[in-house]
Amino acid sequence: MNSSALRQTILIEPTFEAWREAVRPLLSAGISPEFIDLADTESGATESLFATEPPASTGSGSQVHVPRSYIERATVVACHRDAARWNLLYRLLFRLQSDRNLLKLDIDDDVAEFRRLEHQVKRDLHKMHAFVRFRKIETDAGEHFVAWYEPAHRVLELAASFFAERFAVMQWTIMTPDASVHWDPSEKQLAFASGVAREHAPKTDDFEDLWRTYYSSIFNPARTNMNAMRSEMPVRYWKNLPELHTLPKLLTEAEGRVETMISRQPKLTAASFVPGDHSLPVLQEAIHACQGCELYRCATQPVFGRGPARARLMFIGEQPGDEEDRAGEPFIGPAGRLLDTLLSEADIDRSSTYVTNAVKHFKFTERGKRRIHENPRTSEIFACRPWLVAEIEAVQPEIVVCLGATASKSLFGSNFGLMRERGKVLASPYAERVIATLHPSAILRATDPERADQMRSMLLSDLNLASASLSLRS
Ligand code: URA
Ligand code: SF4
Repeated sequence: MNSSALRQTILIEPTFEAWREAVRPLLSAGISPEFIDLADTESGATESLFATEPPASTGSGSQVHVPRSYIERATVVACHRDAARWNLLYRLLFRLQSDRNLLKLDIDDDVAEFRRLEHQVKRDLHKMHAFVRFRKIETDAGEHFVAWYEPAHRVLELAASFFAERFAVMQWTIMTPDASVHWDPSEKQLAFASGVAREHAPKTDDFEDLWRTYYSSIFNPARTNMNAMRSEMPVRYWKNLPELHTLPKLLTEAEGRVETMISRQPKLTAASFVPGDHSLPVLQEAIHACQGCELYRCATQPVFGRGPARARLMFIGEQPGDEEDRAGEPFIGPAGRLLDTLLSEADIDRSSTYVTNAVKHFKFTERGKRRIHENPRTSEIFACRPWLVAEIEAVQPEIVVCLGATASKSLFGSNFGLMRERGKVLASPYAERVIATLHPSAILRATDPERADQMRSMLLSDLNLASASLSLRS
């Protein structure tokens, strides 16, 4: 049978979701990629349907296997402008059904191509993070930052969350030829709308008027419904505006760089929420009102330290995890259980120690029902430091043990090299005797068992050092 005669062309709107919708039935019917051409709508191809059902090679109804890690990476690759990406993504997904380790095969042509596209999109994403330049517009509602940018690939949706996090308290809009995105700090959500063709990119001093008259109407705050916004003010409309052709290049001025935006942001700190009275019950009560950074918004509650007010040994972790966030207690989940085991091996009684975290609210992203831990930013670590310093002052431990890079950064600054400094007794501006060591989660996350063993021994030896340093003093 001649397979090309049977080849069906399916047009894919240039979004990952569109591809996913299109391939789901193909995959569950076991239809081999050789019978399918997934063409980008922008490629100018036309759709052609099978006259008869295509042959199924794995048998319909067989269990389909879609690894989450593949979906995550495919979401990135889908942003590439290479028209062949949709076929590549389906081919790999199809082949993954019978070869689960396929993506580890560097020498495979499809895998190599997948990596190449992924790398290019990621590079473009980093570029966008660094080079978007905002222009400040004064509106009745206050300051509004607007940028026009032309990414090499369709990375706006991927990039948007970065800007939302960085500039959470500002109102901003980024326009690209593919789409535009708008962030309204009071709504706390991203709204996508149509793009702005290159020839209509704002280019002159008249930008403020232009924004008020035209661009702002795509983002009328009264209509935040994304679908409604998508259909509002299509690009066609802009073509009828002759003024749009005559504008100079303000958007590319260095003045509006991301760094300038960052320096304009209000400084994040818990300092004004920390009471002058540093006794533990007062601190523990007061922390519930903290809005020193954005993390209080999504977490269940702040997780304050636990342990005797005069503990001689203090442990500082990173931030509460999923279980800690729900229960309001530090280190009770998987990392806490491993810590307990290691403490008993090092002859340390956990109940005599004070255990806390550098950051007091759980930072996570939601994936379906799961909440996935996210590392806190340096700004969040420093924002939360006043609580940690207050705890250290309240407890006055003889030895502080920093578990992992976050806690170490909090006490020693952001250039601290954990692997270089671990296992020594150090002095920090915040505590006289500090031992920095690995975080138990790092051991739990290690995929290589040998490496995990090695890390476990390092952590145990550092705990033994802490234990021995205490004994010396008693
Ligand atoms: N990891 C931490 O750093 N702290 C906790 O409380 C739990 C897990
Ligand atoms: Fe305050 Fe720290 Fe929570 Fe941020 S993480 S809101 S600084 S307690």
